[in-house]
Amino acid sequence: GFMAALHTRLLASDDHAKPAGGLVNILFGSQTGNAENLANQAADVARAQGLAPVVQGLDEVSLEDFAQMKHVLIATSTYGEGEMPDNAQLFWEGLSASTMPRLEDMQFAVLAIGDTGYDGFCQAGKYLDMRLEQLGAKRIAERIDCDVDYEAAATAWIEATLPLVQPEPGSGGAAGAAASGSKPAAKPSLPGSSRKNPLASRLLTNRTLSGEGSGKDIRHFEFDLSGSGLHYEAGDALGVIPVNDPALVQLLLDRLGVAGDTAVADQQQSLGELLLRQYEISTPSRDLIQAIGQQTRNEELRHVLQHDDKEALEAWLWGKDVLDLLLLDPARAIGVDELLQWLRPLQHRAYSISSSGTMHPDQVHLTVAAVRYQRAGRQRGGVCSTYMADRIAQGDQPQIFFSPNKAFRVPANPDLPAIMVGPGTGIAPFRAFLQEREASSAQGRNWLFFGDQHRASDFIYEDELTAWLDKGTLHRLDLAFSRDQQEKIYVQTRMRENGKELYAWLQEGGHFYVCGDASRMAKDVDDALHQLVAEQAGISPDKAVEYINALKKDKRYVRDVY
Ligand code: 2AM
Repeated sequence: GFMAALHTRLLASDDHAKPAGGLVNILFGSQTGNAENLANQAADVARAQGLAPVVQGLDEVSLEDFAQMKHVLIATSTYGEGEMPDNAQLFWEGLSASTMPRLEDMQFAVLAIGDTGYDGFCQAGKYLDMRLEQLGAKRIAERIDCDVDYEAAATAWIEATLPLVQPEPGSGGAAGAAASGSKPAAKPSLPGSSRKNPLASRLLTNRTLSGEGSGKDIRHFEFDLSGSGLHYEAGDALGVIPVNDPALVQLLLDRLGVAGDTAVADQQQSLGELLLRQYEISTPSRDLIQAIGQQTRNEELRHVLQHDDKEALEAWLWGKDVLDLLLLDPARAIGVDELLQWLRPLQHRAYSISSSGTMHPDQVHLTVAAVRYQRAGRQRGGVCSTYMADRIAQGDQPQIFFSPNKAFRVPANPDLPAIMVGPGTGIAPFRAFLQEREASSAQGRNWLFFGDQHRASDFIYEDELTAWLDKGTLHRLDLAFSRDQQEKIYVQTRMRENGKELYAWLQEGGHFYVCGDASRMAKDVDDALHQLVAEQAGISPDKAVEYINALKKDKRYVRDVY
């Protein structure tokens, strides 16, 4: 439809020139925009080779069109524990059906990104790769399964794989066509436009939003963008590159029995610097668990590993960090090289931006809950959230970069209503949306469902939301404070109570957005949505699924959940 056409980017034609070479379809299955960004990166490489890439989401191609494609690259992430990302679910349903025609004329390759910290690592990519082979398509390159630090490996794979795509004879010239001077000069990338090239931005604000007595420590951050040349859109995410807690680094150094300035072979930085800035020193990697498990005298861990019981291992690991594992056998000497081998590279954390670039072109805001807990006599916390809350102050220059999420946007038609469900820090992108709708004078009505534990301490951004209600920017605000009464009241409780009106907004072309916890909230909100659609439309559960699938296909039901 209309949106699909909008999202289809025929990247070959810079100046409306003819595609230089053979057509290659680059498809993405993306939840938070990473796979989509990789697909666009692949398109740049393809174009530089004289190919004519077309980039589309897996929800933007019909199975009929897909079956006609000759050269296909699929970049996909995996969502949750081995599931397809939202925009790939319907495609996968069709592709895996027994009615799917064979694909003998197709050549394909799959780039999978995932997280080895979860079960079902890269499972979506694995399924697609397997199914395409089953259907008779020819694999032009082995699938790559990338972990969270996918950038270098994915780039290398893209650069190695695209030359294997053989241009269609007669579809417009040889692979070298673009090398003849028509190739656009590569734009130098601005600091802050990618993980590889972050911006040292000035921190303007680090303010506590949650009130006294809250079970949470929710912060509001503002970063300075002036002079950076960077732009972002409401719905995008911001990557923050953390620095580890120096107190934890010291405890690790103590465990090794060496000083922070110890030199490390082949490294510019001292051991202390490496542990601060280069390695994940909180969450135990699989390598570390295996290595410790093989030699430990700890009966529990030995038992769990011997029985290869994933659930028992997870239960045993709960709340334990790298130092806990290293302290299991305190008498055992651990070498510096040995430890570094067991650690994964330090990752950035991505947060949904809580400001609009239209309203705040020179700033970007984040809304982040600092994760903290006490265990076994030691205060622990989330790597990046405590870095931001405790260890950066106004005037510091943390490293940030933008990570676009093109699927998560205010309605393209400014007159259409927006229904936003964002409890807790899930409110972040909706503060951005409301700013965007205000700054662009969009006339569509806005409805926010927000909640948290207690009204007195957790009603963050209350002043701003109230002001928006007064101004009419926010048409409805429904609140769900779960612990202010005997029974639990959640955002989906409020959705159910207002089912009639919510359905009416959808019928008017409304867009439905969800941000926040994926494991429980987003699932329950999805259930509530299905129920209320069935009820209000007077249709069967199956028909309600169809109705909601149609919303997804129109990009009118999108989620930013994690
Ligand atoms: P609770 O912790 O009191 O159960 C933000 O964290 C809010 O989300 C809290 O009020 C929390 O309530 C609530 N929450 C917990 N589980 C939820 C679920 N399954 N659906 C919706 N909200 C939930």
